[in-house]
Amino acid sequence: MRTRAEWVSLTHRPVPDEQWVTWPEPQRAPTLDPHEHATWFASVQDKLHEAEERYRTLVETLPLATYVGDGAPDSGPSWVSPQIEQITSYSPAEWTSNPELLGEVLHPEDKERVLAEMRGAEECGGSRELEYRMVRRDGTIVWVQDSGVIVIDGDQRHSRGFIIDITARREAELELERQNAQLRQLDNLKDEFVALVSHELRTPLTSIRGYLELMTEDTNLTKEQTRFIETIDRNTQRLQRVVGDLLFVAQVEAGKLMLENGDVDLNTLVAEAVQAAQPSAAAKSIVLTADLGQLPEIRGDRARLAQVLDNFISNAIKFTPGHGSVTLTTSALPGSVQVAICDTGMGIPPDELPLLFQRFFRAERATAGAIPGTGLGLAIAKAIITGHNGWIRVESEDGAGTTFRVTLPG
Ligand SMILES: Nc1ncnc2c1ncn2[C@@H]1O[C@H](COP(=O)(O)OP(=O)(O)OP(=O)(O)O)[C@@H](O)[C@H]1O
Ligand SMILES: [Mg+2]
Repeated sequence: MRTRAEWVSLTHRPVPDEQWVTWPEPQRAPTLDPHEHATWFASVQDKLHEAEERYRTLVETLPLATYVGDGAPDSGPSWVSPQIEQITSYSPAEWTSNPELLGEVLHPEDKERVLAEMRGAEECGGSRELEYRMVRRDGTIVWVQDSGVIVIDGDQRHSRGFIIDITARREAELELERQNAQLRQLDNLKDEFVALVSHELRTPLTSIRGYLELMTEDTNLTKEQTRFIETIDRNTQRLQRVVGDLLFVAQVEAGKLMLENGDVDLNTLVAEAVQAAQPSAAAKSIVLTADLGQLPEIRGDRARLAQVLDNFISNAIKFTPGHGSVTLTTSALPGSVQVAICDTGMGIPPDELPLLFQRFFRAERATAGAIPGTGLGLAIAKAIITGHNGWIRVESEDGAGTTFRVTLPG
């Protein structure tokens, strides 16, 4: 049976306009009579032109420029689709006739890198993806993404690929980077300002507390005056704590977390912290208990670890409605020790859990309920525990309670 595919070989590839479609001579003489042959040949030609038209329309309407070449950056493309002119301002003819053009239009800051990468790809073959700038005829800059593949066929190389104009995306990225840099600068300024103000507040606050202490020694004070002085003292202490927290955070931010390590019995620390918090638990009829397991001593900064426990306990009491319970449990794990602080409080909604350890973060319920706090306690706890090579986990059920687990190497 005569099948046309047996004796016709067609090559359909992008080549210069005048040779858009070529086909070699038939390999074998056709067995058709001349009339049949002419009709058949005309129909093949029609189909071929149709296919060519479809292909050309597709290639020329894509929002990118396609190219083919011999794979060497110095020789330029042998064919490039018309969109290249819109992207680079240089016509396909200019690209194919001037092998130096790429080197001439590459942005000076990208030139060396791009040509080196292209030469590297030419040696090894395979695909390559580059982003670089070109300088258009009018001096404007265009950012392009150049995705190509180099095919090595014996000692021949062919490159093909496409170029997309990514100027808008790169400009948006650069704008974002600029804004980020500006934000970082503002953030640093804010940190410096907070550290400075906190520092300035520390001395007068210490002085106020000193004078308050002297005043309480006066035995002639009325009950009302004593109550006033106690209120001033309580608020001054609160301010001192906030100032201390702000300075601590500023130190951590500056990478200056200082830990004074020694041998620490965690159970003693927990018992002391629980003891100290009993009055505030009792004020809300909260049952505050400690369940202490057998623990090895650990290395750590006693005062800083006590500060962490104080914050966890004060949080648990603050965020647990009256008549609830707060339980601290210590346990030894292989190579580590753990303290769990478990409350039956309001819980934390799942979407707020990832934000807990950020500076100044306060859950919506804390602010809505006007529960006092600065939002620094957990950020500080995280910095201290991380400084001990430990970690904190949190589990919470909205409305039912929260458990924080602090694990430290033991
Ligand atoms: N046990 C808890 N139950 C419910 N919410 C909690 C609990 N612990 C912390 N949170 C939430 O996490 C937020 C951050 O806690 P963090 O200790 O950092 O700040 P704070 O207690 O509000 O203020 P500060 O500790 O600086 O005085 C709290 O405001 C609260 O919304
Ligand atoms: Mg707190």
